[in-house]
Amino acid sequence: TAVGASGLAATAGCIGGGGGGGETITIGSDIPYAPFEYRNEAGDLIGFDVEIAEAVFGEQLDMDYEFQETSFDGIIASLNNANFRVIMSAMTINESRAERVDFSDPYFTAYQTVLLLEGSDIGSREDLQGTSVGVQRGTTGEAAAEDLQEEFGGDLQIESYDQINGAFDALLNNQVDAVINDNTVSASFAAENEEVVFLEGDGVAADRDDAPPYLTLTIEEYGIAFRQDDDDFREEVNGALATIRENGTYEEIYNEYFDG
Ligand code: ARG
Repeated sequence: TAVGASGLAATAGCIGGGGGGGETITIGSDIPYAPFEYRNEAGDLIGFDVEIAEAVFGEQLDMDYEFQETSFDGIIASLNNANFRVIMSAMTINESRAERVDFSDPYFTAYQTVLLLEGSDIGSREDLQGTSVGVQRGTTGEAAAEDLQEEFGGDLQIESYDQINGAFDALLNNQVDAVINDNTVSASFAAENEEVVFLEGDGVAADRDDAPPYLTLTIEEYGIAFRQDDDDFREEVNGALATIRENGTYEEIYNEYFDG
């Protein structure tokens, strides 16, 4: 039913990597969020973010690094409490977050989209009024649901789950009518569940070349988040991100996960 999600072809292997001496960079992330950060059957951490981290921190900056699992809601507070050095968690750059962290240059474009079960009565954005939607707590999917709720004068029930899989399970079990979440992550889930489909329609991204062929509620960009006193490191990471775009590494990783 969906694009994307060729994720299991990837094998980043170990949880960390890199070379140079010195401190180990810890990367806070909420896992699983396939195809960005999740585990394969062998239990290895893989995904688009995981491979971009290897390219940026391991290869370009020659640093030791490791991922640290943490809940998404509260991930910014945790970064600012110095529990890890950066956040890499398919995190959308937005203004309210930018008051508390600094972001790298954008490294991925995403859209909020609506998942349904096949045969759902919901056929348009307006039909969402009076229904219940599942979201991951603390995400831009939750924010998009709150915007809709306001638009519907409060007539939308929002069920927030600590992890996206909670929302996906609720959809499969008919506990919510829809799930609002990032398009490629939802596409990855839909690809594994035949009964799951996207709500179609023209959305905010309808006139963009790279827009997904279904209703889009927002257009977003992912960034790596840093503490606000970490400018030198952030600049180094921006340089590395630019290099992997120029040298083809980014495209290679992109094609591995998103069908090129
Ligand atoms: N892009 C969305 C946001 O920034 C969802 C990110 C969720 N990421 C995760 N690894 N669970 O709010």
